[in-house]
Amino acid sequence: MSKKTMHARVSKAAFLGLLMLALALVLPASGLGGKKSADSNKSSAKKCQLQVFSWWTGGGEAAGLAKLIHIWNTNPKLGAGTPKCPFVNETVAGGAGSNAKAVLAQRLAAHKPPDSFQGHAGKELLDYIKAGQVVPINFIYKAAGFKKVMAPQLIEQITYKGNLYSVPVNIHRANVLWYNPKVLAAAGITIKAGAAMTYDQWIADLNAIKTKEPSVTPLSLGEEWTQKQLLETTILSKLGPTGYASLFTKAGDWGSADMTTSLDRFKTLLTYTNSDASSLTWQDAGKLVLDGNAAFNVMGDWQDGYFSGTTKMGNLAKKPLVDYAWTAVPGSSGVFDWLSDSFTLPKGAPHHDAAVKWLGFLGSLKAQDTFNPVKGSIPARQDANPKLYGTYLKWSLKQWKADKLACSITHGCAVSNAWNADIDTAIGQFMSSKDVAAFQKALVAAHAKNA
Ligand code: GAL
Repeated sequence: MSKKTMHARVSKAAFLGLLMLALALVLPASGLGGKKSADSNKSSAKKCQLQVFSWWTGGGEAAGLAKLIHIWNTNPKLGAGTPKCPFVNETVAGGAGSNAKAVLAQRLAAHKPPDSFQGHAGKELLDYIKAGQVVPINFIYKAAGFKKVMAPQLIEQITYKGNLYSVPVNIHRANVLWYNPKVLAAAGITIKAGAAMTYDQWIADLNAIKTKEPSVTPLSLGEEWTQKQLLETTILSKLGPTGYASLFTKAGDWGSADMTTSLDRFKTLLTYTNSDASSLTWQDAGKLVLDGNAAFNVMGDWQDGYFSGTTKMGNLAKKPLVDYAWTAVPGSSGVFDWLSDSFTLPKGAPHHDAAVKWLGFLGSLKAQDTFNPVKGSIPARQDANPKLYGTYLKWSLKQWKADKLACSITHGCAVSNAWNADIDTAIGQFMSSKDVAAFQKALVAAHAKNA
């Protein structure tokens, strides 16, 4: 083919392409006749999808999400109805959203939101509200009557200036001490599951493990955010719920003597931990306990989903009270350090109607009673059926009702993303310096900047 002929053919093709494009732009879909209109409806229907952004990829959490996806994709009233609207799992790996939140921030800044994203009830959600990145969903609450069935403490944390901004799917507890009863027994220690313990008792137990079972790590620890959770629960245990809550007010005193004691305790606890903590996920650190390589681990109760869930779903299928047991972090018995995963309606959600349906579904009894027993959380709804929940969660359901409440730092309830980032920096420096005075100064500065 000569260059000239080729050029002519390309030009002709380009011209036809432009013509088609121009026609598509000027002719409204309805002007193309009845049949075509139905076709075009079909094709836009085909494009319907539900993009949900979360950080649930690991043991326990992925299994919980899979349950929701299954209902969404198979229930005719939801995504499987007409038009079909499949679930698109836009999850980003990394416990506690350690990677996901940064990815989400970029997407929101670029005005490319998913249809719904995970955000913790409380100050983390408030960040998105104040930035205008999520829209009120009062109409969903009204239509489904959610306000009457959700825990009132939760409603408070998702309401801003009279408007509701997310649907909470669960309630998690952060101040849980997990342990391996067989490892403890070998060191002559017995702890009754759920029994109150003091910090001093715990230190005595950690010492006993150290001397009697030198190959066992007394307290397993994982990457940075799990260190923050250990710090948070150590502070709560020393300050109690009232002193802890005051830290998040303008007058909060992060420089107090009790705070110094908390930080000293944190430093002491670190001496019982594994040296490779920063390279371990929360699941890795938890598994050390189940494998008998560690005695204790402080982690949220998503751990129960991971420990007891089926191996088919990437969990460990272990027996509660036999292979593992739990109690409140020593010194914090009777206090429920809580957080809640909630889902939002972002401004400019590409499939708005699907997102509205999703949020209505998440608040339903069916979704909450299917998701939570697998996820290791108790439902945000107060009318859930306790019989569907395992041994740990039955205990947690009772504790939630009886305990005083504290709002988690690590999981966005008590502090904003910016404040959390400043605490992260302070912890990072402390982990290498072990300088308590400098650590406390940095935490005082973070409070002054963010409170
Ligand atoms: C929390 C979240 C939990 C769980 C955990 C570990 O922030 O609320 O649902 O996923 O992180 O990734």
